[in-house]
Amino acid sequence: MAIIVKDLVFTLHTRNSTYQMKVDDQKTLLHTYYGARADETDFSYLVEFLDRGFCGNVPGTEAERVYSLDYLLQEYSTVGSGDYRASALCAELGSGTCDCRLIFDSYEIREEKYSLPGLPSMFDSEREKARTLEIVLKDAKEAFYVHLLYGVFEEHDLITRAVRIENKMDHEAVVSRAMSLGVDFPRNDFEFIHFHGKHMGERQLERSPMVHGGIDIRSTRGASSHQQNPFVILAEKVTTERQGQCYGFSLLYSGGFHVRAEVDPFDQTRLVMGIDDEDFRWVLEPGSSFTTPEAIMCFSESGFEALSHSLHDAVTEHLIRSPWKKKRRPMLVNSWEAAYFDFNKEKLLTLGKEAAEVGLDMLVLDDGWFGKRDTDTSGLGDWFVNEEKIGGTLGQLSEEIHAMGLSFGLWIEPEMVSEDSDLYRAHPDWAISVPGREPIRGRQQLVLDMTRDDVVAYLQERLVSIMDSAKIEYIKWDMNRSLAAGYSRLLPKERQGEVRHRFVLGVYRLLEKLVSRYPDLLIEGCCGGGGRYDMGMMHYCPQIWCSDNTDAIERLRLQYGTSFAYPLSTISAHVSACPNHQNGRLTPFKTRGICAMQGTFGYELDLSKLEEAEKEQVREQTDFYKKHFALFQYGRYYRLNSPLENRDHTAWEYADPEKKEAIVSVVFTDLHANPKIDTLLLRGLDPNRRYKVWLDGEEQGSYTGTALTRAGIRLPIPKENYDAYQFYLKEEV
Ligand code: GLA
Repeated sequence: MAIIVKDLVFTLHTRNSTYQMKVDDQKTLLHTYYGARADETDFSYLVEFLDRGFCGNVPGTEAERVYSLDYLLQEYSTVGSGDYRASALCAELGSGTCDCRLIFDSYEIREEKYSLPGLPSMFDSEREKARTLEIVLKDAKEAFYVHLLYGVFEEHDLITRAVRIENKMDHEAVVSRAMSLGVDFPRNDFEFIHFHGKHMGERQLERSPMVHGGIDIRSTRGASSHQQNPFVILAEKVTTERQGQCYGFSLLYSGGFHVRAEVDPFDQTRLVMGIDDEDFRWVLEPGSSFTTPEAIMCFSESGFEALSHSLHDAVTEHLIRSPWKKKRRPMLVNSWEAAYFDFNKEKLLTLGKEAAEVGLDMLVLDDGWFGKRDTDTSGLGDWFVNEEKIGGTLGQLSEEIHAMGLSFGLWIEPEMVSEDSDLYRAHPDWAISVPGREPIRGRQQLVLDMTRDDVVAYLQERLVSIMDSAKIEYIKWDMNRSLAAGYSRLLPKERQGEVRHRFVLGVYRLLEKLVSRYPDLLIEGCCGGGGRYDMGMMHYCPQIWCSDNTDAIERLRLQYGTSFAYPLSTISAHVSACPNHQNGRLTPFKTRGICAMQGTFGYELDLSKLEEAEKEQVREQTDFYKKHFALFQYGRYYRLNSPLENRDHTAWEYADPEKKEAIVSVVFTDLHANPKIDTLLLRGLDPNRRYKVWLDGEEQGSYTGTALTRAGIRLPIPKENYDAYQFYLKEEV
């Protein structure tokens, strides 16, 4: 039983975890436990009531002076209730200040997972149906309700959360913070892990001690951002890949977010996560409600590896809707780093011909095919094919590409507009800008007001018309700048604090229209690379361009960080030219291939400029990837070491869940004279089976799973800078 309720103690069990809340005598919903599975225990025996200085008392408890929300562990705390820690909710119910205090009202259990209209969320699948617990809290005085939603996916050790806030008063309420989750722990022995970055350097793992006061990470950019990612981990200090407890928290949201983790004066830890509250202010009319995005919590008792495996499985099974989730993704060549804006029909057909010859599946026509778009300074918004540039209609081009045996993909950036565009000249008011002020420009472009129905309808009409004009199997959906001020001309002054969230809802609306009309279309998310790499986008986009940095060696850290929360099948990675266009580094062609296979695999270079020997390598790489795509995309992924810790090499493994075969990749990042002989301990093998091992296609011998996991494989000695190798292992029968 995933959800047990007894005497108003709510216990949620997953395979390896237990989460518990309890309604106390004051009707407060206390949080009592989250951790390793523990059956049949009411953890409120740990709650201690003490008279603590400067901790105000809840009305009615003043005489005893021991009941204070400032130190009790709570499920969903509020600003103004006498809790001075980071609260989950700030709601003004008519007095002009946030003074809401929530008490228990009712609850309900449902046999299926709740859904959130207009927002991405995890769903039931054939493999597992989640149950829902809905706990309703109410303001102690007003008809203001907060519905806490919990979905329990037992198999993945995962609990989903969302909150619906409902105004049943006869006057307006204003919500200026509405977190998707709050979790309190009666301990402070955690470290905080988050994934920071920049354009071309996303998701760099950083691990820091928790501090009294707190750590805030957030994006105020209107997208989840390159700079921070809406996924964090709380881990015991001893936690490594394979030992120690850790908790992963992820927000299924593609806009600005805020995570705060703090240790309170009594050494308890609180984490809240939700929509960024820096410029958020939602007006709730009488009778209306507001629903937060979904957040998920995942627990592992045995290190990051198990945490990642649960998250990878859950995202694949319960979040990605596209039929592509279990199909081999097309190996593509993308025109961006091959030609940038400088292409014509002949160039594209040559690229297609070369791609077909080396065994690729698809040609993607990146930026530059529409409007007046020969540089990045104009044309965005004019989603009309530039037939002069591509030498005919899109339908004709796509047909010629298909005749080569390739499928065809197209780049778009729907949320943006260039001032030098027909769209902007016709509808300057569709671009976000504050009246009377110069707008902030980024890449010399403005952002369209996606809160508006007419803007979304225009984009939908344009996208449908393009999609219907040609055979298009794939779309790369880009977003190449951050939002600055959030302002919509259609909203009154007091509702401008809603713009950033309404913007994201508009993006989801458009994506929803597209995926429901073209269910087989493969959409690749992108935001100047990985600036919107989040579980919100994954509901619509089974894969996301991981970074505009295509250097294989920098990608080692980037893809390493990304793999903690997100399945490898979501990581779009390409082999690019050398010297690398972003940092000038030289790497062997083979190494670039091995690194790009760490995700959905493709190329991003002018294939016609390759030497014959390199083309031969492309053929070998595409053959190898095609043959083993199931392992690469859906195998169990093991980080064998960390590029942040091992200076000599980075290694990872993809193992068949049935333990029949595996691929091990190793990239050397340093060279030594008089080198040591290194070994690598493998994972995910059956100790009682024997495996035949090949190194780059050459048979090495046969070893037991015990030997390979306990003593390891011997690594070759690197022969050049950034040398890389791939082992293939197959069970001997
Ligand atoms: C972004 C993307 C690139 C490319 C360009 C085109 O930067 O991340 O891959 O599509 O836009 O302008």
